Amino acid sequence: MNIGLFDSGIGGLTVLTGLIRKFPGHNYLYFADYANLPYGSKPYEHLKKLVLNGLNKLRADGAEIIVSACNTGDAVLDGRIEENFSMPYYSIVKAGAKAVKDYSKIAVITTDQTMKTGVYIKEILKLNNGAFILQKSASLFVSLVEEGIWNGKMADAVVKYYLEDVKRWEPQVLLLGCTHYPFLQFTISSFMKDVVLLDPAEKLLEELERVIPPGKGTSKVRFLVTGNVERFQTLVNLVQHHPLGNGLSNTEISVEKVVIREAQQEGAL
Ligand code: DGL
Repeated sequence: MNIGLFDSGIGGLTVLTGLIRKFPGHNYLYFADYANLPYGSKPYEHLKKLVLNGLNKLRADGAEIIVSACNTGDAVLDGRIEENFSMPYYSIVKAGAKAVKDYSKIAVITTDQTMKTGVYIKEILKLNNGAFILQKSASLFVSLVEEGIWNGKMADAVVKYYLEDVKRWEPQVLLLGCTHYPFLQFTISSFMKDVVLLDPAEKLLEELERVIPPGKGTSKVRFLVTGNVERFQTLVNLVQHHPLGNGLSNTEISVEKVVIREAQQEGAL
C-alpha cells in the first residue's frame, strides 16, 4: 500500500517510525514542507493552502491513503479533507481526543495555530462533555526539536518555562498535541513526574489496524522535501540513531527535493 504522510519537518517521523514498526513492507511517502517550517505560527488561510499543496503532491505521487502526521495541518483541515479530494484521511487530532476521553482533567499542549482553532477542545468535548481541559501552546518546542536538542539543560529549561503552570494545574494526563513533542518525551515526563503522557500517534496506529494490511519485508520511504533538503537529511540521520527512530534502520530511504510551483500553490485542489 502507498501511505502518504505530511508534516512541516521531522515531527511526523514520530508517526512514521511507529507505522513502519507496526506495518512493515509498505511504501511510505512523507511530504515535509521544510521551506515553510514552522507551521504553528502561520496564519490560518495561508496554512490551509500549504497543507493542501502537500496533499496534492502526495496524491500525484501515488498515495492511496493519508495519515496525518501534523496536528496543526489537521487542525486547519478540521480533521478531514474535502469530499472532492476523495481519499481516506486519518486524523491525528481525532485519535488524540479518543486517547484521553476517559480522563476528567486533561492538559493538551500544541502549537499556536492548533490552539487557536480550538480543535482539541471541540473533539474531546464531543466524547466527554464533562471534561476539564487546559490547552497551552508550547511553540518553542518545535524549534528545539528541529535543532536536535531533545534533552539536556536547554531542553529542561524550555520544558519548565512552558509547563510549570500546567503542572501546577495538576492534570491527570498530558496529551502531546504536536508530533514534534514526543522527541522531548523524556524531558517532559521527568518534569511532569506522575502525570500520564499520551502521544496521539499510539491511538492512531491502533485505529489503522483496520485499514493497513499487515505487510512484511523491507519498508520504503520517499521523503518529498521543500526547502533545505541537506539539512532535513542530516536530521533524518540523527533520528535513525535515536531510539525513536527504531524502524528506520532497516528501511530503504530516499530524500528528494520538491518545488511547489506558484500555480499549484494558488490552485490547491
Ligand atoms: N509537527 C506539527 C504538529 O504536529 C507542526 C509543528 C510546526 O511546524 O509548528 O503540529
